[in-house]
Amino acid sequence: MILVTGGAGFIGSNFVLDWFAQSDETVINLDKLTYAGNLENLATLKNDPRHIFVRGDIGDAQLVGKLLAEHRPRAAVNFAAESHVDRSIHGPGDFIQTNIVGTFHLLEAVRAYWYGLADAEKSGFRFLHVSTDEVYGSLAKDEPAFSETRRYEPNSPYSASKAASDHLVRAYHHTYGLPVLTTNCSNNYGPYHFPEKLIPLMIVNALAGKSLPVYGDGQQIRDWLYVKDHCAAIRCVLTKGKPGEVYNIGGWNEKANLDIVHTVCALLDELCSRADGKSYREQIVFVTDRPGHDRRYAIDARKIERELGWKPLETFETGIRKTVKWYLENQDWVSSVQSGNYRQWVEKNYAGRA
Ligand code: NAD
Ligand code: DAU
Repeated sequence: MILVTGGAGFIGSNFVLDWFAQSDETVINLDKLTYAGNLENLATLKNDPRHIFVRGDIGDAQLVGKLLAEHRPRAAVNFAAESHVDRSIHGPGDFIQTNIVGTFHLLEAVRAYWYGLADAEKSGFRFLHVSTDEVYGSLAKDEPAFSETRRYEPNSPYSASKAASDHLVRAYHHTYGLPVLTTNCSNNYGPYHFPEKLIPLMIVNALAGKSLPVYGDGQQIRDWLYVKDHCAAIRCVLTKGKPGEVYNIGGWNEKANLDIVHTVCALLDELCSRADGKSYREQIVFVTDRPGHDRRYAIDARKIERELGWKPLETFETGIRKTVKWYLENQDWVSSVQSGNYRQWVEKNYAGRA
């Protein structure tokens, strides 16, 4: 079996669901269920004995140690994190706590467990740490995409905390020999994406007749990867990756934010047109920029393709169409995540923007 942390969040829940579509190997899913964790994402696994859900904190080394001793997993995949840049600007404390201190305690518990394994299990064990392209900082327009050897230059409390966790993971390999793998991925999109992030926020706001807030001039560039391609890449790295190595994962889809919003509007115009016959584009509003906003990210994903044979299956066109359709067909899920807490966050992040 494997241990997955943060498996009730956006990428983690997609990973767990996809895992069982490929394999019957049990997953112990350790998740704190913060605002971003949602067991509704895993509703289809409710009575599935292959899925063992445990509510808890990766920073609780005693709990993690107990789970490892009891279930004896052959691998751990760490998705658990605070993940939203805007929230890290409003309140960095939770990011330091989970992404740095939490990862440290998780690593300590895993190290103690790993030391106690017999030789064969020890050499086969893997700790896969899921990280982000944001640790590399911001690219100028004509600079080459981030490769695995790019220097770290994180610019937000979120990316700085992820960078720190990457360094800890690296150090546990270098110092203790723990067989770690690190993946640095670009922006994901797809089902179960919490509507605080750009794409789901635009879909949800558009359908609710609300404004579509584009930060600054909307010309910031991100690389977009359909979440199921990311999950496949992680499975590939887990199976074939070389301990101690870093793999960048991306979709070869660099897009400006405003183009993303236009694409979402065009799909909604086609699939669920406005009652007044106008385009959803009419709802776009340019608002005050994110402080310290990184201008461009781009991933050079040639290493994982060359060494492990992974490349994305979805184009942006196919992936975004599936995503918009998923949101239209899952309005109950959308309503269930728009709690009082969510509304307070929206008020906090957007009310002060001109
Ligand atoms: P998310 O915010 O949707 O989910 C995070 C999950 O972790 C939630 O279920 C939450 O309850 C859980 N969690 C938070 N703190 C925890 C703790 N202390 N102990 C246990 N569980 C805890 O995040 P996501 O978008 O699914 O991202 C997953 C991972 O992938 C993160 O590490 C993130 O940095 C990384 N990543 C995300 C993207 C992206 O575009 N979303 C891209 C690259 C990398
Ligand atoms: O690059 C990988 C990262 O992608 C992950 O590590 C993060 O966990 C994930 O949240 C994501 O970070 P971003 O900051 O790029 O994602 P977000 O969806 O918040 O924003 C995408 C872009 O859209 C960014 O340039 C900011 C802009 N934006 C975002 C929101 C929420 C807007 O213009 N308006 C908005 O309301």
